[in-house]
Amino acid sequence: MNIEAVKWIGGPNGVLELIDQRRLPTGFTKLKIRSVEQLYDAIRTLAVRGAPAIGVAAAYGPLLALQWLRGRPSFPEALDEVLRSCDYLATSRPTAVNLFWALDRIRAKARQVSAAPRPTVRQLREEILAEAHAIYRQDIEMCRRIGRNGAQFIRTGSGILTHCNAGALATAGQGTALSVLYEAYRQGKRFEVYADETRPLLQGARLTAWELQQAGIAVTVLCDNMAGFLMKQGRIHAVITGADRIAANGDAANKIGTYSLSILARHHRIPFYIAAPSSTFDLTLRSGREIPIEQRDSQEVARCAGVQTTPDGVAVYNPAFDVVDRKDITAIITERGVIERPSATRLRAALRKVGKGVNS
Ligand code: MRU
Repeated sequence: MNIEAVKWIGGPNGVLELIDQRRLPTGFTKLKIRSVEQLYDAIRTLAVRGAPAIGVAAAYGPLLALQWLRGRPSFPEALDEVLRSCDYLATSRPTAVNLFWALDRIRAKARQVSAAPRPTVRQLREEILAEAHAIYRQDIEMCRRIGRNGAQFIRTGSGILTHCNAGALATAGQGTALSVLYEAYRQGKRFEVYADETRPLLQGARLTAWELQQAGIAVTVLCDNMAGFLMKQGRIHAVITGADRIAANGDAANKIGTYSLSILARHHRIPFYIAAPSSTFDLTLRSGREIPIEQRDSQEVARCAGVQTTPDGVAVYNPAFDVVDRKDITAIITERGVIERPSATRLRAALRKVGKGVNS
């Protein structure tokens, strides 16, 4: 997989390179991000998107912030800037917990450096870079393991439906839901992939279709409202999506429309899988009701592909995510194993498997 959605180039004074996902599928360009404000904007406007990719990108943000400090900052000044940039980036998007998870790791690393005797700014930069690289590398490995753990659920001859983009573009590695498909394909299985278009921002049509095509895997795009009819015809044998935040009881937030798919899947008795790394779990929230749901600009719904599609002044509803009830999830595929019929007890047990995950 040679799609690199997020990549740091150079040492502590380096630059963050992102594939500009706003321009796909017709334009492939890379952005060079040189300031924390540019990074905030890239996350907010979905130049970089997908829960794990947002977390990885944000982890490098404090290094960019440090590059803008004038003169020779003292250690307390540099530490303050790191913590301030973490707080700032944490306000870029509210739902994907990977963002907060990655920023917490950077904050913890910075505090650890500050607890050392006579800490230096150079040490701080180097340790933050090492931690951000560790987050990046762990994400790649988690993706790989999710693929290996999930490929068993994909059968030759089956039809698989996915929603939004949970592939290489959404992570540092080969994706979560799409990693399962890549691994099954690598094992020689052949199946039909259907990608929901995923209004309003069309991550399925623009991104999932693009990256599967790059990988040589045939994909059929459908409008979101066509999924039920496809299922009724018996053409879908499994639904697999990623997640942005999974609560302690197994309820999972993902791109708006995922909830509707889960209900359709239940109605048609089709297994519904969520593929997500342990960095997407938020055990501080008891259920999906507590997951904050991002509301986005009305223009994303009022316009489509740059064309106004609703009358002036009409009210618009635009939540970016919804929540799948744990009871409608057949299994959650993680890098630590598969959590079948998720519940609070099963989640805790799976995530406690110390040493089994890359992130324990
Ligand atoms: O708004 P987006 O494009 O960031 O939403 C992304 C999704 O909902 C993905 O399905 C999710 O982050 C999983 S990515 C491995």
